[in-house]
Amino acid sequence: MSRPRDIIEGAISSPTVFRNKDKLYPEYIPRRLPHREEQLKQLALIFKDLLLDPGSAPHRAFLVGGVGTGKTVTSRVFGGSIMDLAEKRNVKLRYVHVNCHRDRTLYSVVSEIARQLKLPLPTRGLSAQEIMAYILEYLDERNMHVIIALDEFDYFARLAGSDAIYFLVRTYDEYPWKAKRLNFIFISRDSSSLGMLDPATQSYLVRSTVRFPPYSSRELYDILMDRVAEAFYPGVVDEEVIRYIADIEGSEHRNGNARVALEILLIAGEIADREEAGRVTVEHVRKANTIVNPEITVLYDTLKYLPLHELLFMFAAVRVLREREKAYARIGEIEAEYRRLCEHLGLKPRRHTQIYEYVVELRRIGVIDTRTSGKGYRGKSTLVAVNAGPLDHLERKLFELISSKGGVWG
Ligand SMILES: Nc1ncnc2c1ncn2[C@@H]1O[C@H](COP(=O)(O)OP(=O)(O)OP(=O)(O)O)[C@@H](O)[C@H]1O
Ligand SMILES: [Mg+2]
Repeated sequence: MSRPRDIIEGAISSPTVFRNKDKLYPEYIPRRLPHREEQLKQLALIFKDLLLDPGSAPHRAFLVGGVGTGKTVTSRVFGGSIMDLAEKRNVKLRYVHVNCHRDRTLYSVVSEIARQLKLPLPTRGLSAQEIMAYILEYLDERNMHVIIALDEFDYFARLAGSDAIYFLVRTYDEYPWKAKRLNFIFISRDSSSLGMLDPATQSYLVRSTVRFPPYSSRELYDILMDRVAEAFYPGVVDEEVIRYIADIEGSEHRNGNARVALEILLIAGEIADREEAGRVTVEHVRKANTIVNPEITVLYDTLKYLPLHELLFMFAAVRVLREREKAYARIGEIEAEYRRLCEHLGLKPRRHTQIYEYVVELRRIGVIDTRTSGKGYRGKSTLVAVNAGPLDHLERKLFELISSKGGVWG
């Protein structure tokens, strides 16, 4: 038995596929934002006058889109860049990012803004209104402007209520002679929180809405490619692995959530390290996929209701994929394996048209995925992937089910 010290030392010094794992963590701000160029441009247009004619009018944007579509990261990247540009033009501008999931009350939002502006506040207990007055005074004295991003705005809207929102967003606009120093970016997963704002702000925001659609597989592919280059050693992640993750999570199949795609990539790399594989394979991705999307294992239960020949086809698919260590196999290859299996079991194989119906049905219940072959494959044919977890697991499960349904293995 190894000593704990040796175990720990071995694990620490064992080789890894990661050059820089931090680059896959959610808080990392990447150098580029593929496929968010349009959103950055729209933000720039909304806040343009803040640089050209600072203080003349308040500027506001509303960012809306589903989970993991890059709202937070785009807002942060925009904030960082516009601060740089402002500095070049001698405009004093700060970007402040408040997560309203954490700070849901007016008091905590205002305190957080003050904290990020590094505002020295008296230690005695101040009200939100008093802190706000300090902030305004501080900005006035320095001729400074601020963009306040209220991320996960719906939490603040629901908890703090319309009066608090009005106070934060509108009160200081109501002094016409004063410079407009407070600008806002509202971030939300849907537009319902808009209803909590005053009608004037609402109609303004409808025109200043920036939408974040879910990412397609191709878009995720580009995002992942960028990160792979930063986070992994060269050559340890195959192009096929990246394409596979992008296919799994792309909006064509699932939510188009970049966070999930990056998480699958990170976990696949960690599994590869644990297995000391030295490279990340599609099987590592399948394992990571079941960890990130545990509902997949529920699919295992649906397998037992499948008729024998669908199980056999599925089994053939798993066999071919395992053997080839690929994400996808051509339908023809799987069919050939299926025929061999039937022969082996003394069963009469179903016809080709029937096989096609199996594929449609298996895809419908979610145990396989398909796509049409493109680059890297000769001719056009249907490719089949099995995303439902590690294949060795699945192979065992299918073997048992086939046996229980009368398949007698020689
Ligand atoms: N275009 C992109 N390029 C590079 N990385 C991206 C891109 N879009 C999103 N990401 C990354 O994906 C993850 C999720 O993005 P982000 O947190 O911005 O999503 P979100 O829209 O704010 O989601 P939520 O609604 O859950 O808060 C982050 O790690 C982010 O860095
Ligand atoms: Mg976010």
